[in-house]
Amino acid sequence: MAAGMEAGSLKRESSIGVYTSFKFSASSFHTSSQRLDTRFEHQTRHNLISVVLELMSYNSSMNFKLNGIALNTNVFLAPMSGVTDLSFRLIAREHGAKFCFFEMLDTKALLYRKDNNIEILKTTKLDKPIAAQLLGADPDTMQDAALKLISLREISFLDINCACPAKKVIKKKAGAALLTDRKRAALIIKKIKSSIKIPVTVKMRIGYENADEKEAEMFARACEDAGVSMIFVHGRTKRAGYSGPVDYRMIARVKKCVSIPVFGSGNVFNAPLAKKMLDETSTDGILVARGACGNPWIFKNLEGSPGGAPLPTPLNIRKAVLKKHLSLIERYKNISPGGKIGSMRKVSMWYLKGIPDAASIRDRLCRSKNQRELLRVISSIQAAI
Ligand SMILES: Cc1cc2nc3c(=O)[nH]c(=O)nc-3n(C[C@H](O)[C@H](O)[C@H](O)COP(=O)(O)O)c2cc1C
Repeated sequence: MAAGMEAGSLKRESSIGVYTSFKFSASSFHTSSQRLDTRFEHQTRHNLISVVLELMSYNSSMNFKLNGIALNTNVFLAPMSGVTDLSFRLIAREHGAKFCFFEMLDTKALLYRKDNNIEILKTTKLDKPIAAQLLGADPDTMQDAALKLISLREISFLDINCACPAKKVIKKKAGAALLTDRKRAALIIKKIKSSIKIPVTVKMRIGYENADEKEAEMFARACEDAGVSMIFVHGRTKRAGYSGPVDYRMIARVKKCVSIPVFGSGNVFNAPLAKKMLDETSTDGILVARGACGNPWIFKNLEGSPGGAPLPTPLNIRKAVLKKHLSLIERYKNISPGGKIGSMRKVSMWYLKGIPDAASIRDRLCRSKNQRELLRVISSIQAAI
């Protein structure tokens, strides 16, 4: 039994938790009791038993623990640099996200560049529980950064980024470059492990240039041997970046070759895809990344909360949540005015994706010079439909 894993079948609980939520989301305009009544009326006796079992399983999926630390859920908001800032996380949490990551922290920036870190590490009392992720290549610097980080913030665990495909990151031998240097990755893990008490985890990809079963397995095992408590696997290679299919079979191979918990990442855009990830990989949980952009309702849909919003979410609700998201950016993001309006435009486009006349709305959003103008465009959309 892996360290920190509860006795019993975590996998079964996890997958059913997601499956349950999928069914719930179809009737999400009803109250929970109305919904159950409706379901009970129409189910056969056999289905009734499975509904009860699913509900029981949903409750137990809240018990996911890592080294004895309760993380509340096996559906995490993934780290996304430049995306999952405090405003994003607060909106996600308000809509059901129970565990989030800070944006990735560059080791050197954390140690030497003050302003950037204050921005990334901004948090509130509501923004818990949370994990952090470090990007770097030098084991000693990573160790110093880990120590500094835990002196600044209370985090549930610290993740080491072995997945970032950006050229400037690879050039520094960090991120996905670590996939090609197991020794360095193991040394980083050991150094950090030796200096902090919280669990250390790794986020990896299924390969560098190509998906290679042996390489991926050897990397995962090296990380486990070096002491990580959990592995997140993005089911694409470094070369694939963020596009193309997710290789569920490779994620399953990684899961099978280690005894610590493994979470899958890639294309978790809705409940059926979340279920597919869990079913085809047998992983212990999932990371939601782009699926949460402009769609914070995804968390309730996946977790099966009776309060889950319907899919697709009506435009008036999307607009209201978007406006709140923008107000949080205004409140918390302390960056240049240009950077702030850029961030607001990006977020607006997520929420308004797929609306009629999207091209002209997009054009008007791009021409908005401040939050007031942006809000005017957003308010006018209803009339245009
Ligand atoms: C804009 C963006 C930024 C990302 N930043 C990070 C990061 O800082 N650290 C990391 O481990 N993964 C990062 N990722 C990868 C995601 O966490 C996730 O693994 C990946 O997007 C696959 O999931 P998806 O297909 O559901 O989006 C990022 C992805 C995107 C799209």
